Amino acid sequence: MQRTLAIIKPDAVQRRLIGKIINRFEEKGLEIIGLKKTIISEDLAKKNYSVHEGKDFFEKLIKFMTSGPVVILVLRGKNAIGVTRRLMGSTSGHEADPGTIRGDYAICGRFNLIHGSDSVESAEREISLFFDDTSIVESEKSDLKWIDGMSDDLTGENLV
Ligand code: RTP
Ligand code: MG
Repeated sequence: MQRTLAIIKPDAVQRRLIGKIINRFEEKGLEIIGLKKTIISEDLAKKNYSVHEGKDFFEKLIKFMTSGPVVILVLRGKNAIGVTRRLMGSTSGHEADPGTIRGDYAICGRFNLIHGSDSVESAEREISLFFDDTSIVESEKSDLKWIDGMSDDLTGENLV
C-alpha cells in the first residue's frame, strides 16, 4: 500500500476549500492517516521543494507556501501517489481538466490549491519532513476489500 503527502496550499485555505478537497480524496478511497493545520517555515518549504531550487519561480513559490496556514495530509491507498496527482490535475489551473481539483477551482499557475508528492522517494522524504511516526495513524477499514479489489470471495483474484 502506497503513502503520499498532500498539502492544501494557503490559497485553498483562504478560499475555504479544505473540506471540498479532503472530500475528493476520501471519496476516491484514500485513507487519511496524517492530518494537521500549520504554517510552514521557510526552511521546511525550501526542503519540500528542493527540486526546484535555482528556478526562476522558486523564491515566489516559497513566499506563497509560507504566506499563511496550510493543511498537510498523509494519504494511504493503492497507487496513492498517482491517484492523488490525477485528482489534483495538471499544474496550471487554466490547463487542468475539469473534474480535477485544480481544473474545477483554480485558474492560476502558482496559486493552484494543492501539492502532491510525485514519486515514492519524494513521498517518503516529504512525509518525514512534516510528520513523525507517532502522528501517523493507520487502521484497517472494512470497505478496503471493495475499494482495492481484494474481495477474493467474489472475484477469486486480486484485481489491479
Ligand atoms: P506541486 O509540486 O505543488 O504538487 O505541483 P506540481 O508538481 O504540479 O508542479 P511543480 O512543477 O512541482 O511546481 C511546484 C509549484 O510551483 C508553482 N509554480 N509556479 N512558473 C511559475 O510561476 C510556477 N511554476 C510552478 C506551483 O505552485 C506549482 O504547483
Ligand atoms: Mg511538484
